[in-house]
Amino acid sequence: MNDSSPTVVGMIGGHGQIALRATRLLSAAGHRVLSVIRNPEHAADVELAGGEPVLLDLERTNGDELARALGAADTLVFAAGAGPGSGPERKETVDHQGALATMTAAAQLGARVVQISYIGVATTPPETMGVDFAAYQRAKYAADLALEASGLDWVIVRPGTLTNDAGTGRVTVGARLDRGPVSRDNVARVLAEIVARPKLRGLTVDILDGDTEIERAVANLGS
Ligand SMILES: NC(=O)c1ccc[n+]([C@@H]2O[C@H](COP(=O)([O-])OP(=O)(O)OC[C@H]3O[C@@H](n4cnc5c(N)ncnc54)[C@H](OP(=O)(O)O)[C@@H]3O)[C@@H](O)[C@H]2O)c1
Repeated sequence: MNDSSPTVVGMIGGHGQIALRATRLLSAAGHRVLSVIRNPEHAADVELAGGEPVLLDLERTNGDELARALGAADTLVFAAGAGPGSGPERKETVDHQGALATMTAAAQLGARVVQISYIGVATTPPETMGVDFAAYQRAKYAADLALEASGLDWVIVRPGTLTNDAGTGRVTVGARLDRGPVSRDNVARVLAEIVARPKLRGLTVDILDGDTEIERAVANLGS
């Protein structure tokens, strides 16, 4: 993958589709993954992926508790999300407040935050969307702005429309890409490469399926 030392990763939303893929990659590469999940029935899947389940509900915790539970972590990946079936309230409590709690924990731990957002979050006005999507946009954009202003080390990853296609191992990364598809496999591989490069920080990166081999695309972000 690259030449960095093993890290300890707090995977927030550890049973998510991208999170489980990233956990498999990170654990296979020798990193330790502490996977924050709210449903004890998800523990077996997390363990199968190589993660260590940490049972906490983002809507019933705070940054202090999260920091205590993830005490060894040097990188926190915010991969949680309220999901498409949820209304505005959960966009606020999970996508926004959950991200803020993650930042509070990161500040206490001295950890870097790698946060999943989405392409267009900063450019599509909420008034052009339905109620739920507008709430999602507001929550995700507020979380991104808070992270950028946090004083922490951070990387924001903004994928296009997620698919379950098999990963091609090739992406396009850039600052302001148009919308398009990207597989969860490819996003997970990009996250794993970013996690393993602690010097990457202060970057907001759009990602689509594309032509550049992922390791090279991520390595180029630092140059
Ligand atoms: N859909 C798209 O096209 C798209 C595009 C770009 C970016 N994104 C972003 O990418 C993120 C990750 O995508 P994905 O497909 O991996 O999402 P996902 O499978 O829905 O994963 C989200 C995870 O968050 C967890 N979660 C929700 N509420 C929680 C809580 N209160 N406490 C702890 N964990 C909680 C869920 O756990 P439970 O099973 O317990 O609910 C789930 O495991 C999305 O959330 C979204 O913000 C999506």
